[in-house]
Amino acid sequence: MTGGVRHLYVHLPFCAHRCGYCDFVTVVGREEQHRRYLDALLAELELERGVLAERVETVFLGGGTPTFTEAAELERLLSALPPAREVTVEANPETVTPELARMLRTAGVNRVSLGAQSFQRDLLGVLERRAQPDDVRRAFYHLRDAKFDNISIDLLHGIPGQSTAALDLDISEALALGPEHISYYELEAKPGTRFAHAHGAELERQAEAMEGYFDLVVGRLVEAGYRWYETANFCVDTEHADGRDLRARHNLAYWQGREYLGLGIGAVSTIGGERRKNTPRLGAYLAGLARGETPERDVEPLDEATRARERLMLGLRLDEGLPFATAESSVDASALGRLERLGLATLRADGGGPETLVLTPRGRRLGGAVTVELLA
Ligand SMILES: C[S@@+](CC[C@H](N)C(=O)[O-])C[C@H]1O[C@@H](n2cnc3c(N)ncnc32)[C@H](O)[C@@H]1O
Ligand code: SF4
Repeated sequence: MTGGVRHLYVHLPFCAHRCGYCDFVTVVGREEQHRRYLDALLAELELERGVLAERVETVFLGGGTPTFTEAAELERLLSALPPAREVTVEANPETVTPELARMLRTAGVNRVSLGAQSFQRDLLGVLERRAQPDDVRRAFYHLRDAKFDNISIDLLHGIPGQSTAALDLDISEALALGPEHISYYELEAKPGTRFAHAHGAELERQAEAMEGYFDLVVGRLVEAGYRWYETANFCVDTEHADGRDLRARHNLAYWQGREYLGLGIGAVSTIGGERRKNTPRLGAYLAGLARGETPERDVEPLDEATRARERLMLGLRLDEGLPFATAESSVDASALGRLERLGLATLRADGGGPETLVLTPRGRRLGGAVTVELLA
């Protein structure tokens, strides 16, 4: 039996240490457990294979630190996964050696997302990162040497102590490497993290001073030829990329409200009107799959109204917006009229086709606040 799901996420939770600001599902060390975890992942894949389409479009290995997983185990996983048009692996700079880069490429990976975060030694220190600025650059060149022609870099703005000049320098450093894609996130103090405890108050005090930071990021990247295609994501525009569409296809599937299957601890799936979330507990996950059972998970039914709201919230993050008909039921018509008059949102009907709802660049800069206003 084959199903219709074309997007596959695989969670590899292991990390060398836990960065203070991180609240992802991670497991520190425990190298001896990599093999058992891989066995469990492959067992889960077999149990779920029926929901996947014959041809999968995207595979994304996220973490944790996928490249911290024992190389032989990572290779075993990659060889068992279905082939896909886009296969992305998240990598931490200090883990990228020439050998690892070549292994990934040979195993069919064609996109790497490198967690740089910053190129400033002191800011990397605040974040408790293992990588130094040189590690980030070196990792990038190892990937290029292994013939990766689609590399993304993750960066953060709003790091405590980050001046406008330091942000500007980070942007210049990133542009100098010439990645095909850049994700630029605002650093969040996630509740319960060491970072929130140590820097939460400072971050709140700095908020006003850092208000213009994202405008600087957008301004400089767009000027350098990047397309600001999603709230926090940029890719080299097709006209500067020999016609290639360099948007992250896997993440695009999330933002377009498509179905996806997630494997591993804490992984989320959205399939057939349900959202499933696997247990984040490694022991429970390993034990369940060792018994041949699907892992413990929370299942939330998604009714049509919830899906329409989600489509609206995610679709408006994109520069292309979303088909109005798919979200109309969750749009407040009078708020839409008001936002149109303010020049923040617009309904487009290109060539007399179906209407598309998009935020204007000014609306997108205001982000979530405009979307909340639009929700009926
Ligand atoms: C799954 S995470 C981790 C990837 C990889 N292990 C690393 O550390 O580079 C993917 C990205 O989320 C972003 N991120 C993690 N914690 C964040 C936070 N508290 N606020 C904003 N972005 C965050 C980082 O840019 C990170 O590269
Ligand atoms: S390496 Fe990445 S996933 Fe692991 S703790 Fe640090 S930020 Fe989180």
